[in-house]
Amino acid sequence: MVVFQNIAKLQSHLSLIKKSKKVGFIPTMGALHEGHMSLIEKGKEKSDYVVVSIFVNPTQFDNPEDLVKYPRTLENDLKMLEAIGCDAVFTPSSNEIYGSNIDAQTFHFDGLEHQMEGAFRDGHFDGVGTIVKKLFEIVKPNVAFFGEKDFQQLQIIKKLVEKHEIPVKIVGCKIHREEDGLAMSSRNTRLTPEHRKEAPFIYKTLKKAKKRFKKESIDDVLNWVVKRFEKNQLLELEYFTIADEKTLKSAKEKVKGEKYRGFIAVFAGEIRLIDNIKL
Ligand code: PAF
Repeated sequence: MVVFQNIAKLQSHLSLIKKSKKVGFIPTMGALHEGHMSLIEKGKEKSDYVVVSIFVNPTQFDNPEDLVKYPRTLENDLKMLEAIGCDAVFTPSSNEIYGSNIDAQTFHFDGLEHQMEGAFRDGHFDGVGTIVKKLFEIVKPNVAFFGEKDFQQLQIIKKLVEKHEIPVKIVGCKIHREEDGLAMSSRNTRLTPEHRKEAPFIYKTLKKAKKRFKKESIDDVLNWVVKRFEKNQLLELEYFTIADEKTLKSAKEKVKGEKYRGFIAVFAGEIRLIDNIKL
């Protein structure tokens, strides 16, 4: 496995590789876990050469404290990547990516950016769009892999690629869960033991909401979720919404033939967790 911090060196290495190999790319912010490993497995299955980037992108954090406290475990990340058979890792500094101008570009994703995470995390998707576009321009992969835990991010990246005509195929990968159902996330390591124990309540609620969605109105399901969280002493619901999978707009009534998902954001103490379920 080769590791690069420098854009020019990575590019000169990849230009040779690309002559004969299909390059698969998994951008990450490090603090790698089994969820990332499942993306890398998918990358190995669907491409000939797997590149992973590790970069905690400052422009996508709306909360400065969250950026400072974001887990950084580079040494362990590299060990995990080596063990799973990743081919190349890109670990640039902030200066390498942004120079002295740590700013996000403004994007229009046909309204996808105003829903859910976009409404609650100011500027978040401009930051994500900025870094993913930069990384695609640097790595120029044939195919890139993103987890469905960040389903809105996945849809936004598909839109980014379509609008900016970036020649890369985007593959969405199923949410990887702990045995107790908690969606894997780098932020899980920051949960207190008490909050960690309670966190599977989120997915349990989603699964029950999915059952209810089959026979109840959207409003009834939404109210049921809100009430359930009101009774929970440890977890605070930020939002639960049932939205159209394509537009990500909250749905008021079920329309036959449309595909829906339930999306949730919850505070477990200081830590914000998100999850979603196909309905
Ligand atoms: O999903 C993430 O970890 C990040 O948003 C990404 C796609 C690596 C961009 O920084």
